[in-house]
Amino acid sequence: MTRRTVRIAMNGVTGRMGYRQHLVRSILSLREQGGLDLGDGSTLWPEPILLGRREHALRAVAERHGIEHWSTDLDAVLADPSVDIYFDSQVTAAREDALKAAIAAGKHIYCEKPTATSLDGALDLARRATAAGIKHGVVQDKLFLPGLLKLKRLIDGGFFGRILSVRGEFGYWVFEGDWQSAQRPSWNYRAEDGGGIVADMFPHWEYLLHELFGRVRTVQALATTHIPQRWDEKGKPYDATADDAAYGVFELDGGAVAQINSSWAVRVNRDELVEFQVDGTHGSAVAGLRECRVQHRSATPKPVWNPDLPAGESFREQWQPVPDNADFGNGFKVQWELFLRHVALDEPWQWDLLAGARGVQLAELGLRSSAEGRRFEVPELAL
Ligand SMILES: NC(=O)c1ccc[n+]([C@@H]2O[C@H](COP(=O)([O-])OP(=O)(O)OC[C@H]3O[C@@H](n4cnc5c(N)ncnc54)[C@H](O)[C@@H]3O)[C@@H](O)[C@H]2O)c1
Repeated sequence: MTRRTVRIAMNGVTGRMGYRQHLVRSILSLREQGGLDLGDGSTLWPEPILLGRREHALRAVAERHGIEHWSTDLDAVLADPSVDIYFDSQVTAAREDALKAAIAAGKHIYCEKPTATSLDGALDLARRATAAGIKHGVVQDKLFLPGLLKLKRLIDGGFFGRILSVRGEFGYWVFEGDWQSAQRPSWNYRAEDGGGIVADMFPHWEYLLHELFGRVRTVQALATTHIPQRWDEKGKPYDATADDAAYGVFELDGGAVAQINSSWAVRVNRDELVEFQVDGTHGSAVAGLRECRVQHRSATPKPVWNPDLPAGESFREQWQPVPDNADFGNGFKVQWELFLRHVALDEPWQWDLLAGARGVQLAELGLRSSAEGRRFEVPELAL
């Protein structure tokens, strides 16, 4: 077995996503398993170079995991010809400039969503990357969640008949930060720092709806800030200038209608933090992060509306679990593996910066729809 090293500059690995999902659960996990088996007698050995602003935080992560290389000098790392890939999971507002510099330096790009804070910025990145001839990818992790993979399997197997509608519920209570600390970073609640639930979640809804059910043709949304004041990491009060809840309706190619509520000001009365109910002429399903349950038309009860009687049956118990029938790896790691294979072997890849721009486009149109009280067509993007 020959071993090829791929050097990956990882920026933002002291953050929640960068550290846990990308560094520990993906890149370090690949190293623990001996590298990525490319299937041609060779393995790809990822070598991270940690990048960031805070030396002490980087050094601590590097020491904890025995990582040899780290730096606070983005330009110097990008100038190093031995670095193959630039990865970015910084705060959203810092991403665009760093990606532009990495593209100009000829690195392949892999990054978190949203790729930029405006559609113009996101398209500009996609155009620059294409012109530079580099390989580029954007995280679309929800596609690799076990619950949604099982939902995709149902769709591919024709379970639903004609799909009529999709109802999504996403969210949980994010503490304000005064009497209990907030479980999400404060920049998420400041529009000027790239925060907001529409910017955060509509990119996810775009690729999920698009890949599972059909391209989003129109969007109508109401975004709001339910909690106007929060307390930051230092316990200081600040004005929450970004939306913390969004109620969206999306018409899809193929005729289905999707309606998705996203909120950081909701208490969970569901089995999982995100759930999608899909209703089709032949059957329905409810899929979450891990689980998926179905009800076929042949097993559909016939409730009759009568407010004078208590509910005579337990509707939730009338659904059947979909078995895993497979081992689902960590979704972030699975997508990393596909990207690395795309870089190393030129295997097909569809989640590029143009796909990332579609997510930013939906977020931008969602916010405009809310501000203007209008429904918008979502034009197809081209480079
Ligand atoms: N794919 C997903 O499911 C998912 C989930 C959450 C967040 N995200 C995305 O990941 C990115 C990071 O989110 P997170 O929740 O890990 O955030 P975080 O605040 O925990 O981490 C942010 C990282 O960016 C760095 N950073 C660079 N410039 C900064 C600045 N000016 N201010 C503050 N931090 C700065 C921080 O040091 C840190 O390493 C965001 O773009 C977010 O949209 C994706």
